Amino acid sequence: MSDIQRLKDLATMVSLCKRRGIVFQSSEIYGGLASCWDYGPLGAQLKQNVKRAWWNAMTRREDIVGLDASILMHPTVWKASGHVDGFSDPLVDCKSCKTRFRSDNTESYIKEKKCPNCGSKDLTEERRFNLMFKTFMGPNEESANIVYLRPETAQGHFVNYENIQTTSRKKIPFGIAAIGKSFRNEITPGNFIFRTREFEQMEMQYFVKPGTDMQWWETWKETRWAFLKNIGLAEENLQFHEHKKDELAHYALKAGDIEYKFPFGWQELEGIHNRSDFDLTQHAKFSGKKLEYFDEATKDRFVPYVIETAIGCDRLILAVLCAAYREEVTKDEETGKDDIRVVLGFRPEIAPVKVAVLPLSKKAELQGPAMELRGELAKEFEVNYDDSQSIGKRYRRQDETGTPFCITFDFESLNDKKVTIRHRDTMKQDRIDISQAVNYVHQGLRNF
Ligand code: GAP
Repeated sequence: MSDIQRLKDLATMVSLCKRRGIVFQSSEIYGGLASCWDYGPLGAQLKQNVKRAWWNAMTRREDIVGLDASILMHPTVWKASGHVDGFSDPLVDCKSCKTRFRSDNTESYIKEKKCPNCGSKDLTEERRFNLMFKTFMGPNEESANIVYLRPETAQGHFVNYENIQTTSRKKIPFGIAAIGKSFRNEITPGNFIFRTREFEQMEMQYFVKPGTDMQWWETWKETRWAFLKNIGLAEENLQFHEHKKDELAHYALKAGDIEYKFPFGWQELEGIHNRSDFDLTQHAKFSGKKLEYFDEATKDRFVPYVIETAIGCDRLILAVLCAAYREEVTKDEETGKDDIRVVLGFRPEIAPVKVAVLPLSKKAELQGPAMELRGELAKEFEVNYDDSQSIGKRYRRQDETGTPFCITFDFESLNDKKVTIRHRDTMKQDRIDISQAVNYVHQGLRNF
């Protein structure tokens, strides 16, 4: 292997994702729906793996429990949380070309009060545009029945604080973790699955004693940084951006983002927020319920402060895909000629498929035992069975979707009861007993 190229542009990743069944444009046969995406067979598995990595990192700790809250919540939740009044972006319309744009992050407007599309100065006044999607509950489309699709999962944690604290009998500090869909009517979605209107969030609220909050904020910054490194993001592509006073969300006392260097630049990946006692105090005020904590040991009663870690699952998947991508100048394993090999070098636990079974021929005498081996492996791992085209092409397909191991079943396998197993990264091959295949893959994944 002489040369390695990393991902240069997002278009290369979009095209790989489509070609290999990772992510498709939503409703493609109807021309697609802007900024909505569907995860195909490999993408759905990849997403499960990313979610599992996050869920295990959170809920296998003694101090964090899980939650799966509903998307639709009582409308007063969003008044109390500040989203009805405060969750909006400033918008301006160009009267000449009808372009609508955000006035707070459009350079031509900030500098010269010009339309970013046609340059016209014939623009409307700024208006606030609330990002929450509205819908109606029940058969009557009346204002009394308006409910919102949640714009963050976090409010489910706050309104369940008391239920969870009392039933799990957790003592402070403790956390609540959840994974679920959120919806925002973003004005400028884009960059593939980076910013969409429907997305999945993985959020954890950590309830702490006031006064210890800043120390926990620092601890969670470090813990989340370590997680992101562990899932495969290189440290040189991570940086921390602390919010200045004018960047803080309406609920935040202190906040910052872990940013990732995407092909389109440094962008927010995960937020670490000190939400103080804002949310519990607001919900106590609007619901009339006391949302406090009683410390048996010290006899103190207080409203906990909350440190939040919030990451978009889809955004993390994009970061993981970008980090995993590499092109290698190498030799074709069949012809020996120079070749470019595209590899998604996922950490094995993230790889959508762990092992592929590749019978050398479509003849029934090979297919039968190869399928049998597939069945054995599938009891333990996600397996892909591929019997079409040359073995070289099949290896390349598996490399391109990050499969750590490929097992080739050949005619000799019928006699010697052995198969050839190939390692994704080194391309080295071992001849092993068929009966040892499951063990070999187990160990191989562990020591990858
Ligand atoms: N509960 C706090 C909260 O939602 P946020 O910074 O607005 O904070 C947290 O969102 C994370 O959710 C972001 O860092 C990002 O990873 C993800 N996210 C937010 N809006 C998104 C969107 N429109 N599309 C995809 N991911 C998004």
